[in-house]
Amino acid sequence: NKTDEEDMYRPNFHFTPNKGWMNDPNGMFFYNGYYHLYFQHYPYGNKWGPMHWGHATSTDMITWKEQPIALYPDELGYIFSGSAVVDLENTTGFSTDGKIPVVAMFTYHDMEAEKAGKIIDETQAIAYSLDEGITYTKFEGNPVVENPNIPDFRDPKVNWDADRKQWTMVLAAGQEIMFYGSKDLKEWNLLSKFGEGVGNHDGVWECPDFFPLPVKGTEDTKWVLLVSINPGGPNSGSATQYFIGDFDGKTFQIDESFQKEQAKEHTFWVDHGRDNYAGVTWSNVTTAEGGKLFIGWMSNWLYANDVPTEKWRSATTIARELGLIKDDNTYRLVSSPVKELNDYRGKKVVDKNISIAGETVLTTTEIISLSKTEINFILSDVANGKYTFTLSNSQGDKLKFGYDGTLNKFFVDRKEAGRINFSEKFSDKMATAIRTSDATELTGKIILDKTSIEIFYDQGQTVMTEIFFLNAPFNALSIKSDLESFTLNTIEINQLNF
Ligand code: FRU
Repeated sequence: NKTDEEDMYRPNFHFTPNKGWMNDPNGMFFYNGYYHLYFQHYPYGNKWGPMHWGHATSTDMITWKEQPIALYPDELGYIFSGSAVVDLENTTGFSTDGKIPVVAMFTYHDMEAEKAGKIIDETQAIAYSLDEGITYTKFEGNPVVENPNIPDFRDPKVNWDADRKQWTMVLAAGQEIMFYGSKDLKEWNLLSKFGEGVGNHDGVWECPDFFPLPVKGTEDTKWVLLVSINPGGPNSGSATQYFIGDFDGKTFQIDESFQKEQAKEHTFWVDHGRDNYAGVTWSNVTTAEGGKLFIGWMSNWLYANDVPTEKWRSATTIARELGLIKDDNTYRLVSSPVKELNDYRGKKVVDKNISIAGETVLTTTEIISLSKTEINFILSDVANGKYTFTLSNSQGDKLKFGYDGTLNKFFVDRKEAGRINFSEKFSDKMATAIRTSDATELTGKIILDKTSIEIFYDQGQTVMTEIFFLNAPFNALSIKSDLESFTLNTIEINQLNF
């Protein structure tokens, strides 16, 4: 029954809409102390339907308050994914009384055209808000970008290019990204295209994002292009790949070393788990170190419509900070939960230099909760063993994850993690990811909620996010290895206060 559903599956601290369907995060911006999150939303049913933009606000990207729906479909179509920017200099002229306009840019998906068998059914439009993102007025000149005869022409992401003093917009067009420029967000010029011959092309490209990031420990800045793809993800279904290079205000030039590495082995995914899709970044804010703030949709088109919740469907990932590192071969994106999550730390248990032989229980729910939890661990020399963490409960549910040093692969296995029969594709295999760091020591940060695990390995070089639906909450965490014995250097478990 419904109460059970709330108890069992409503996350403790990941955003979910109160009711109805949710997919991509949209239009995130920061202004006047508030982080805004809009989302693809069908409020009248729990499967994908006529798309609206739902809305939520937060002062820390962790605790969200749902707001009234911001954009409703109209005669031009459903409101598909897009972005929002704060027009600080009123380049649009939408404000006549000194108020700062917030401008949303989104895709109109014309269902009537689609039903009539037309494949050209998407255009780009804008709407503006003069009350800091609560209500929007659609621009009377819509659409602002007509369709140049391309099916799957959507998901405009606008960013302010401070160097060139122009708005740049990236748009997914089939299996390419189109770059546009504008002075006023109304008139857009095509600048260039990107994508042929690079990256993964096993699906439609969607929900791009494009922004500069400082390279940690250097004076350099590189541009990052995020491209979601469905299908074609490294563990099947939907996932988000990234590219790194330079931008001259017109053309994105992929970095040579990056291109070489990617052609050898495509390990350049924002997340290797099956449940982080269509993620993009907040506009009008960076962290003190110049990092960008990101959130993703914590599901996968393979089974999103079938997961066992009735009242609502889907949650977002934890908000994350994105940075860039340069290793011997090339640049890599690194992610970590936003530091604001640390403010929720409560009870803590720490253990060091534990010598482990056989399967060993690390903690149980008598000591600390395992459904609102941050776990940090260090394993010293992982080259030769397979290390498996297991979360379990009295119902026999088991979620296994860890690292196999002999294969150089991380894994998440949810085959025994509760309810899996709602979709054949949910747990037909385990998710794996190649380890890209060659450090002998392995560090990990694990964020656990009632229905999700997010694992950040090697300071966020490799991330795996997966959802699950248990028969009862987990009550124990254990670790084992195929080695006779090994040392767990550190395990630190923080219960999060929610
Ligand atoms: C990605 C996506 C977008 C589209 C939206 C529709 O998940 O397919 O490309 O705008 O969902 O809801």
